[in-house]
Amino acid sequence: MSIGILTSGGDCPGLNAVIRGAVLKGTKIYNQEFVGFKDGWRGVVESDVIPLERKDIQGIAKQGGTILGTSRTNPFEGNGGADVVKENMERLGVDSLIAIGGEGTLAAAKRLSDAGVKIVGVPKTVDNDLSATDYTFGFDTAVEIATEAMDRLRTTGDSHGRCMVAEVMGRHVGWIALHSGMAAGAHVILIPEQKTSMEQICEWVNAAHDRGRAPLIVVAEGFQLDTMDDAHSERGLDAFGRPRLGGIGDLIAPEIEERTGIETRATTLGHIQRGGTPTAYDRVLATRYGMAAVDSVIHGRWGRMVSLRGTQITHVAFDEALGKLNSVPQDRYDEAAILFG
Ligand code: F6P
Repeated sequence: MSIGILTSGGDCPGLNAVIRGAVLKGTKIYNQEFVGFKDGWRGVVESDVIPLERKDIQGIAKQGGTILGTSRTNPFEGNGGADVVKENMERLGVDSLIAIGGEGTLAAAKRLSDAGVKIVGVPKTVDNDLSATDYTFGFDTAVEIATEAMDRLRTTGDSHGRCMVAEVMGRHVGWIALHSGMAAGAHVILIPEQKTSMEQICEWVNAAHDRGRAPLIVVAEGFQLDTMDDAHSERGLDAFGRPRLGGIGDLIAPEIEERTGIETRATTLGHIQRGGTPTAYDRVLATRYGMAAVDSVIHGRWGRMVSLRGTQITHVAFDEALGKLNSVPQDRYDEAAILFG
């Protein structure tokens, strides 16, 4: 019997390091065999597998993306659900699953676990929006990329005396914006947790400009002006029926220019934040998650997700892991706001 691994949902840097950590510990310490399911739950419901031996995971910790591929396929939506998953696992000789994914993936994993599938989870969210873990891999890399991008926006902004707006990821929570904005010395940080008025934004922009600075704004994709009821979305829905966000930077930039008279440009970083090589921090965290997931399989901790508390890797029930967002607390926003303007 072997252990099946899948990566599901949006990708993020560090997925390959999880796979490598799991396969290395599983083969070296526990003498286990592995297979990889292609493209998340799609591979599970369609029995699409690839071998995962030690030679297959050599040198992949530094590689972005996922060698297994990913998709937003939901096993419970027209794909046969738990029955098909159990049938396919049995036929392939797969005894248990390690599912690496975000909220949608873990929700499906919980339903499968409730139906008797032996499954453990590894949290994956570039937005860092799961409250059951202190950090998820991919977040540090995204912050690094966003910070570097803003450093670059600052020099061109300085040359032209322009206000520069950088839009970063962050559907429900503003961690990427908060951390990259603080690191890059942004004059304004706009996050989903804090609705803000255009008057206030322009006040900060003018204050920075009056001090001779080229104002730098970072805005999370899920940010809403105080006049908005929902996050800005003009790209329809994704496969999970969630609005595809993006474009808030382009929406506020002309308004800022009109109100302040300062020439303003917006840049959306988008999927650049999820691509490429993971930082050392993310590689280490992801490797540890992968190894801990194998420990969970060996100890039969079904229906649980590995998580980081302080510097320790521990585990929490799927129930606990789901539903509660890791929002930016008020005191962290207030602390950052001292630097605005
Ligand atoms: O949930 C992570 C995330 O990167 C969000 O910040 C973003 O809204 C979404 O995924 C983008 O998803 P997709 O890759 O399907 O466009």
